[in-house]
Amino acid sequence: MKAAVLYERRTPLVIEDLDLVPPGPGEVEVRLVASGVCHSDLHHVQRDTPTVLPVVLGHEGAGVVSAVGANVTRVKPGDHVIIAFGAKCGECFYCVRGMPYLCTPANPARPRLARGNQTINQFLEVATYAERTVVSEKNVVKIRDDAPLAVCSLIACGVTTGIGAVINTAKVEPGSNVLVIGTGGVGLNVVQGARLAGAARIIAVDVRDNKLEFARAMGATHLINAEKEDVVERAKALTGGYGVDYAFEVIGNPKTILQAYESVRKGGVAVVVGVADENADLTFKPVWMMRQAKTLMGCAYGSSRPQVDFPKLVDLYMEGRIKLDELVTRRFALDEINEAFRAMEAGEVARGILDLA
Ligand code: APR
Ligand code: ZN
Ligand code: ZN
Repeated sequence: MKAAVLYERRTPLVIEDLDLVPPGPGEVEVRLVASGVCHSDLHHVQRDTPTVLPVVLGHEGAGVVSAVGANVTRVKPGDHVIIAFGAKCGECFYCVRGMPYLCTPANPARPRLARGNQTINQFLEVATYAERTVVSEKNVVKIRDDAPLAVCSLIACGVTTGIGAVINTAKVEPGSNVLVIGTGGVGLNVVQGARLAGAARIIAVDVRDNKLEFARAMGATHLINAEKEDVVERAKALTGGYGVDYAFEVIGNPKTILQAYESVRKGGVAVVVGVADENADLTFKPVWMMRQAKTLMGCAYGSSRPQVDFPKLVDLYMEGRIKLDELVTRRFALDEINEAFRAMEAGEVARGILDLA
């Protein structure tokens, strides 16, 4: 089966014919329908990260179960599934406490991909830039058959991370003032999460006007181009001089993380959703934590429980309460993955999707 392999950092992905193991006990094979292209994948191409190469990237996938191994009870062939990324062992310290987004499994997944006698790793145990994948049954979430699978792939990362940051992590209350810095594939979902939560003002910040227009379509009430205006000053001016109740940083840049923290009012909460570089440092005034009672908060995978949250998000979409189609600006074939990365970096797309079926 075909997959996109990263052999060396800062080089293009290579489309290869790979061997995929048949699903073993507790594993399922999924024929992928689509995979969203997330900036986190590109981070591993451009940055030095702990991810071991060679690797098949992609972590925002959905598809149809094509085979199941022994003892699989959660799904059967033909089921429509969204694939949750990262280990989801169900038994570790974090899983038993209801925090599968921090799962730290006792044993890593077995190798499932190879090219001849070379083992190829699966990014985040899922590897969705491929025609098929084999994953633990704990990583698949069965969804209703009438939901369009291609756009539902976005629920595997961007939608859940963005909406989850608002609803699960920060628990934004109706009437809140919310600032969102970085309105790309994930940040746009923070915007629609804030709308879902009943925020009064949703202030979107980006350096590109086309991204700000996407944000308006997702529910932003105010737009700030950070190249042209001072973000902290504008955020305060729009909130009676106080600052916002909640700020979300959705880029992974120490400078904008600080901007988020500076933009919240006394007692406000800044949430870091973006993934910073491994070697990045951040300096800030800790005295604000006491004198201004401000919170600086981290957020992984929207603090989500995929088995609970994915079907809910699908229902919200099917009832017209959240938007998915509007997020997809362009669709690509698997062998256009490097072009999809380029388009994302150039800011041309809200989200790109690889069509894999
Ligand atoms: N100020 C404001 N906006 C910025 C700035 C800045 N200094 N720098 C970049 N941006 C905007 C880009 O213009 C783009 O719209 O941030 C957005 C990032 O969006 P995407 O490239 O689509 O990335 P996305 O997939 O949303 O991921 C964002 O979240 O999950 C993490 O790893 C992911 O760190 C990444 C972040
Ligand atoms: Zn992602
Ligand atoms: Zn676990």
